[in-house]
Amino acid sequence: MKSLTLAALASQILPAFSFEIKVSSGGNATSGHQYGFLHEDINSSGDGGIYAELIRNRAFQYSDSFPVSLDAWHSFNNANLALNRLDTPLSKALPVSVTVSPSSDSSGAVGLFNDGYWGIDVRQQAYTGTFWVYGAYEGVFTAELRSALEDDKVFGSVEVESKAAAGEWVEHTFELTPGEDAPNSNNTFALLFDPAGLAEGEESLDFNLISLFPPTYKGRKNGLRVDVAEALAGLHPSMLRFPGGNMLEGLTNTTYWDWKDTIGPLKDRPGFQGVWGYQQTHGLGIMEYLEWAEDMDLEIVVGVWAGLALDGGLTSEEDFPAVISDGLNEIEFICGSVDTKWGAVRAELGHPEPFPLRYVEIGNEDWLAGYPAGWDSYQEYRFPLFLKAINEAYPDIVVIASGSTHDGYKNLPLEALADYES
Ligand SMILES: *[C@@H]1O[C@H](CO)[C@@H](O)[C@H](O)[C@H]1NC(C)=O
Ligand SMILES: *[C@@H]1O[C@H](CO)[C@@H](O)[C@H](O)[C@H]1NC(C)=O
Ligand SMILES: *[C@@H]1O[C@H](CO)[C@@H](O)[C@H](O)[C@H]1NC(C)=O
Ligand SMILES: *[C@@H]1O[C@H](CO)[C@@H](O)[C@H](O)[C@H]1NC(C)=O
Repeated sequence: MKSLTLAALASQILPAFSFEIKVSSGGNATSGHQYGFLHEDINSSGDGGIYAELIRNRAFQYSDSFPVSLDAWHSFNNANLALNRLDTPLSKALPVSVTVSPSSDSSGAVGLFNDGYWGIDVRQQAYTGTFWVYGAYEGVFTAELRSALEDDKVFGSVEVESKAAAGEWVEHTFELTPGEDAPNSNNTFALLFDPAGLAEGEESLDFNLISLFPPTYKGRKNGLRVDVAEALAGLHPSMLRFPGGNMLEGLTNTTYWDWKDTIGPLKDRPGFQGVWGYQQTHGLGIMEYLEWAEDMDLEIVVGVWAGLALDGGLTSEEDFPAVISDGLNEIEFICGSVDTKWGAVRAELGHPEPFPLRYVEIGNEDWLAGYPAGWDSYQEYRFPLFLKAINEAYPDIVVIASGSTHDGYKNLPLEALADYES
């Protein structure tokens, strides 16, 4: 009955909807970037997600919100495990290591093993690993991929000749190719040594930055998970915005996502007090994001920190030049020539060719945190000063505001796009 009525109504109403389409030339072209990704590490989408590292809590990183712990680590063959701050840490960024010593109940090789991020995918493929050791030890280390369900089931094992020496940190690298695929992902990674090889008077060894990677997307060192990256590439996006999101802002204005902490050797990356409930490694740093964009042929949209943190911590106008200068340095790192200070740093990290950079977003959701002071300051000085500085230094870069006229940005400068401006 109802549908009949509707049909009758429709037949009466439809003719009133006839319209004419006029096609004119000109008008505003779209950017071609309506469809792409914004990535930040939320719900373990970075560490434990697209970032291919298999070892969880690989370097005992911590912050005010997330205390240092032995999460994901377990003792092998009754070894004693203890967190330790040696007088000689691996690095300033990674001050805590794990001390491993045999107990009276240990016989044979001792060590530690890791659960991975909800298990470890074990296949017949080449895994690459590294670990750092402090203390004198003669003999071999054994790196193994083992079943967590079946005692003594080892899918792959490799012996790594010790280069460990007294009083210094020594890096060891290895390749491990399992002889068979594991039937499921409930597997662990173990790192073992023979206490008989400890130097006289030594009772333990310290380990840090224990890392294991499967093959990565396009073979990048410290790269992305192949399955996840291929699935994303298959969506044919055109742009990648990073690093978020709230992650860019940080919980406080001393703990925001500082791009400078995310570059260089992993041992020099302190990690990040994540804003979504867990500590982050900073393994997925700005270089890794840029290479991700390059490998998927995506337009880069970088978000620069704009002096506002999630707790409302706000940089005054007087102090704002330092924030701008840091943002300009970041832009220079991305697209400056090798003759520039930060372009040279990028070259040193293996990418002399500047990355193409056409879009820079100032902050993230600036109308939200610390309202109304945060939003007022964005309109009064944070956005306009940033816009001016970038326009002067990089006339071809489009600057994007993180809020729009919908949020009450009445005087949004015309040349600036807004995050979701219509
Ligand atoms: C193009 O955008 C400008 C600025 O938003 C607007 O004033 C103008 O009407 C637009 N032109 C067309 C043809 O849509
Ligand atoms: C994702 O993370 C948010 C923030 O921690 C949480 O509220 C949400 O439940 C998570 N979602 C899933 C599917 O895990
Ligand atoms: C592995 O199996 C054990 C024992 O059944 C279980 O407690 C654990 O949750 C499993 N872990 C994963 C990652 O599936
Ligand atoms: C951080 O935020 C506080 C509180 O708003 C502010 O007093 C301080 O100046 C900010 N620090 C920096 C470096 O901007």
